[in-house]
Amino acid sequence: MKVQVCIIGGGPSGLLLSQLLHLKGVDTIVLEKHSREYVLGRIRAGVLEHGFAALMREARSGERMDREGEIHEGFFISRDGVLSRVDLHKYSGGNSVIVYGQTEVTRDLYDARDRLKGAVEHNVEDVQIHDVKSDAPFVTYRRGDEIVRVDCDYVVGADGFHGVSRKSIPKEVLREYERIYPFGWLGVLSRTKPVSPELIYCKHERGFALCSMRSQVLSRYYIQVPLDDRVEDWSDESFWAELKRRLPEKVAGDLVTGPSIEKSIAPLRSFVAEPMRYGRLFLAGDAAHIVPPTGARGLNSAASDVYYLYHALIDHYQKSDDAGLDAYSQKGLARVWKAQRFSWWMTTLLHKFPENTPYENKLRETELDYLFSSEKALGSLAENYVGLPF
Ligand code: FAD
Ligand code: DHB
Repeated sequence: MKVQVCIIGGGPSGLLLSQLLHLKGVDTIVLEKHSREYVLGRIRAGVLEHGFAALMREARSGERMDREGEIHEGFFISRDGVLSRVDLHKYSGGNSVIVYGQTEVTRDLYDARDRLKGAVEHNVEDVQIHDVKSDAPFVTYRRGDEIVRVDCDYVVGADGFHGVSRKSIPKEVLREYERIYPFGWLGVLSRTKPVSPELIYCKHERGFALCSMRSQVLSRYYIQVPLDDRVEDWSDESFWAELKRRLPEKVAGDLVTGPSIEKSIAPLRSFVAEPMRYGRLFLAGDAAHIVPPTGARGLNSAASDVYYLYHALIDHYQKSDDAGLDAYSQKGLARVWKAQRFSWWMTTLLHKFPENTPYENKLRETELDYLFSSEKALGSLAENYVGLPF
């Protein structure tokens, strides 16, 4: 089989890129390790920036997002029980975010791929990347007993943090920067009315908590938990009780609880791999970088990679101009590092760190006091949260 671009990974990055390229006449295949049901069963991001939304529309996949997604012009930060609002609209110069789940984004992209009869292969095993330093790279994978070979011009590694693409770049070429946080987020999805019309990020002496949502009948809540906690250790009752302890009293009183329909623990990690290009292999999204979820940047950073790569590949195929491909890694990383800084800052500000001294705790409190006393500081938070320009 021969395609122009072979994309490894059928998460949001891979699907969005293949859809955008297909619409411009570039031939792609997406190779996904898991079944479609498995991919759609993962509950992850909930907050989209407008740059991401614009790409979804360009990919002709944005209709349901525009119909069902909620525009949020602000969110709250609770500081040990006291609520303060961050007016994103005011402090970002009129911008906002869209609350629409990653599951729905992925479903819309699969539907769009189906409508165009795009090639998406599921349950592929043992994907291997070959000869990316040559002009004739190829990818092999196993389907049952059969080994399939895909010849291509370019390979895109959009296969997430645990994928094979980054690992196929030689160790002496790749530089990795990493910070592992000493806690995770326990998340619960429940068919209940959200406790607040806008998200609430809670800093509390017992640990961080987040009240989010997917719709007016579907809530998503998170609490900070030690790294060695297991989901089985947390009954629904114990989750709700711990969440309530970390919320302002009035909010805890309003909280509607119900059975969890999904419950999982995500470890928190900051990670960047450089460069994002090796020969004819390009990394995109979580394959190249991870942020702790506090600033809602992960999926949105993946979108900026897709944006740069999409335009670079179109320039190559339509104008024989390779400047975009040559600049991809440098351009992508410049924005990626800004998302790293912001996510690290939000995480440090709002979580309880076991190793923190009383001095550091005072500094965090002072940072929050400063934030809410300075329009410039709120402006910096707002412009990062709604997404820096691509
Ligand atoms: P992935 O979604 O990981 O997709 C990669 C795909 O590749 C997967 O389908 C995988 O099965 C497949 N794959 C892996 N290995 C192989 C292989 N060897 N061969 C073939 N296929 C393979 N981001 C935000 O912007 N906003 C938020 O509010 C937010 N909240 C989050 C909350 C949580 C709890 C978590 C865990 C993450 C959150 N994120 C958020 C981050 C966001 O979910 C990720 O950044 C996003 O999923 C990245 O998309 P991706 O397509 O690059 O990678
Ligand atoms: C959600 C996740 C986040 O990491 C975040 O910052 C905001 C919302 C969510 O899953 O709804």
